[in-house]
Amino acid sequence: MTQDPQIIFSLRNDHVRKVSEAALIEAENSGDPQAQPASNSEPRLAVQRTAMITGAGGLLGRSMHTRLEQSGWRVVPFTHPELDITNDVEVQSTIERIRPDVLINCVATADVDRCEVEPDWAYRVNEKGPESLARACRLVEAEIVHVSTDYVFDGSKTGFYTQEDEASPQSVYGKSKLAGERAVSTQNDRSYIIRTSWLFGAGGKNFGSRVIEYARNGAALKGVKDQTSIPTYAPDLAGRIEEIIDLGIHGLYQVTSTGPTTWLEFARLALDLAGLQEVKLEPVTRASLDQRAPRPQNSAMRCLLSEKLQLPPLRHWKDALKEFVERC
Ligand SMILES: NC(=O)c1ccc[n+]([C@@H]2O[C@H](COP(=O)([O-])OP(=O)(O)OC[C@H]3O[C@@H](n4cnc5c(N)ncnc54)[C@H](OP(=O)(O)O)[C@@H]3O)[C@@H](O)[C@H]2O)c1
Repeated sequence: MTQDPQIIFSLRNDHVRKVSEAALIEAENSGDPQAQPASNSEPRLAVQRTAMITGAGGLLGRSMHTRLEQSGWRVVPFTHPELDITNDVEVQSTIERIRPDVLINCVATADVDRCEVEPDWAYRVNEKGPESLARACRLVEAEIVHVSTDYVFDGSKTGFYTQEDEASPQSVYGKSKLAGERAVSTQNDRSYIIRTSWLFGAGGKNFGSRVIEYARNGAALKGVKDQTSIPTYAPDLAGRIEEIIDLGIHGLYQVTSTGPTTWLEFARLALDLAGLQEVKLEPVTRASLDQRAPRPQNSAMRCLLSEKLQLPPLRHWKDALKEFVERC
């Protein structure tokens, strides 16, 4: 196992307590049926947990909300207009008022190129905001989930990046996200840092989420052929985040769907699955797009901690994409 201190994990005390309580309920319920009144089939110690979500109006924020609500959590979502995470005073007072068991920070500066020209904004949202959230959570003894990115890697590796690889971001976006990871884990040792890559799903503003819509609107489509990572389906990521919270093992995770690919291959399959086989997709290089922010050429990730915890891999992005397109 790695020497990276962020991967050394700790078991929550209250997790141990909850597991013991659950075991107790099970033991009680599995006894002599005569000892259990027939009407008393509800678990007696079930406690509804509260999850606060910031960035709740975004792609992952909405998937997280749906997922946790379906699982019986009390969910308190905050969209950007409802809570700006760069407002430290508002952050403190809101978290003190809600007193969540866990806060899930799904805020993003979606525009990677804008970060390059507005670094102050990028660091405010990606580092200072998460730092305030993590500090306020510590003060009310709440856990925090902070979502980060594969863009913390420089992209020069052949093969999968693990937590043992040095993070060496090339863009302001990647640097500010890495600073955010570090700020959160420094402020709150009950934190889960979840790096992910190439999110897609209903309502996202990114290329992966909107390629079918662009095609239906007659846009000329280009697919980058020389950048590799793993498209990750937001609802699947949300499910995994819930599992990680339930396990209660804090640390640095790298959670993606399965199977590296290019945007070109992803977009082609999305169009084909949507019955848009006739739509042309021009293969291009990333460099030809002349974008401000450098992107890692390869940022496919593996998660050593998930493997150690025997969390099964998420399904292949192609299977998730099929489900997504069917729902579009
Ligand atoms: N999308 C990807 O491909 C991708 C890849 C790797 C990692 N990630 C990470 O995954 C997480 C979720 O990304 P996503 O794709 O779900 O992003 P998203 O769809 O762009 O949603 C982000 C949300 O954050 C809100 N927001 C922005 N600034 C805020 C602020 N100062 N205070 C409060 N809310 C603010 C946005 O509101 P407005 O729209 O009103 O500004 C938006 O609703 C982020 O941590 C991101 O870095 C994403």
